[in-house]
Amino acid sequence: MAGFVTTITKGSSNRFLIRLATVAALGGFLFGYDTGVIGGAMLYIKKDFHAGTLAQSSMVSAILIGAAIGALISGWAADAFSRRRTKIVSGSVYVVGALLCAFSQNTLQMVGSRFILGLAVGTASFVSPMYISENAPPRVRGGLTTFNQLMVTIGIVVAYVVDWGLASVSNNWRWMLGLGVVPGLALAIGMMFLPYSPRWLVEKGRSDDARQVLERTREEDDDIEQELSDIEEAARREGGVRDLLSRAVKPMLVIGLALALFQQFVGINTVIYYGPTILKATGIGDGGALQQSVFIGVTNVVFTIIAVVLLDKVGRRVLLLTGNVAFFAALVLLGVYFASSPLQHHAQWLALAALTLYIAGFAISLGPVFWLMISEIFPLHLRAPAMAVCTIGNWLANFVVSVSFLSLTNLITRQGTFWLYAGISIAAFIFFAARVPETKDKSLEEIEAQVGAEASEAYPQEKGKRVREARA
Ligand code: BGC
Repeated sequence: MAGFVTTITKGSSNRFLIRLATVAALGGFLFGYDTGVIGGAMLYIKKDFHAGTLAQSSMVSAILIGAAIGALISGWAADAFSRRRTKIVSGSVYVVGALLCAFSQNTLQMVGSRFILGLAVGTASFVSPMYISENAPPRVRGGLTTFNQLMVTIGIVVAYVVDWGLASVSNNWRWMLGLGVVPGLALAIGMMFLPYSPRWLVEKGRSDDARQVLERTREEDDDIEQELSDIEEAARREGGVRDLLSRAVKPMLVIGLALALFQQFVGINTVIYYGPTILKATGIGDGGALQQSVFIGVTNVVFTIIAVVLLDKVGRRVLLLTGNVAFFAALVLLGVYFASSPLQHHAQWLALAALTLYIAGFAISLGPVFWLMISEIFPLHLRAPAMAVCTIGNWLANFVVSVSFLSLTNLITRQGTFWLYAGISIAAFIFFAARVPETKDKSLEEIEAQVGAEASEAYPQEKGKRVREARA
């Protein structure tokens, strides 16, 4: 811990980097706040709007569809208008969305408002880690980029606390949702004081401006000219969105998408959205379930901090694989618990222990590593669209898991559902062990060169094929 803190806090360039990452990661906070706030708010909205199951799930999930569409739009906007301006717009749209939610008069208005909020959240979810990672020097990029995931987890806990604190206030749900204005405004205003990403500047032919940004974020002994010329070389690579399927990039797209889908299909948001319901099923009552949910939320924050510290030391792969084993074991255990009535009668603590192990495992692995890796593995000229594709996959998978969880528990029982997620996590482990590269300590351009080299045997054939096609 001390090592990371000293590396990251010494020198004015590092203090600037921390400020940059903290403001940019407010995007993560918006994402987390929304994820966490709706569970508590829905308890009251459903009474005011006389909402049935369908209306409730539409209000909850409208944001997930909005987020997928937001990611699609910002895949283009982050390149066309810059990562920085896209983040300013997303903070502003969030403010509008939060106000619209707070003043909604019926289910339809709430669904529309949550959809607008989703546009902002989907944008923030990947443009924030992309912006941080493009500004960070390789030695601290893992930890710094994971500030975003840390803010996601903090946003979730703050939302739980806000829900709990406002429980007895009149018009409480309007305040719960409306308070989102605060981080939205902070993001939009804060980003106005931060620079453009040096990688985006170089892409737009503004190398001198990029040098100035690098001078603010690098230390004296860093070779800024070398870094700039590496970025310039990466930016010279031409190509369009269809190159996402070229032999050089497709393997990385497969890895990014696999991380995106596995992150959701191991069931994380059943714990985040339905944690209180799962805990209530152990017979502890409403109050106890909410209290234990806060405990799980705090565990998520604590283990994400551990990931921030360790990602640049032990590397991404070790954490990804270790955490995977932990959440696999937790899922098996949860299944065993719900399959055994003696355990349910005499060992309720086991459910909480398993959920805690699950969230700790996720928080050091798939939680941060998915968002970090997709901001590292794609070549500069395709980074925004490629990240957008993975992000869309992630939000759609989130949608599928969230809307299917309760029906699945009816169909194949609660234990069957957790064992299904456990099976998926075995597949995830095998895939990660075989395919996910280590990116620790490499510059984004070195990673790009490595990916290109690995595909180089296939690439000339493909180039030749294209030339032949063009001639024909
Ligand atoms: C995931 C979210 C999840 C959160 C929990 C994020 O990395 O993308 O779906 O709710 O982690 O901490």
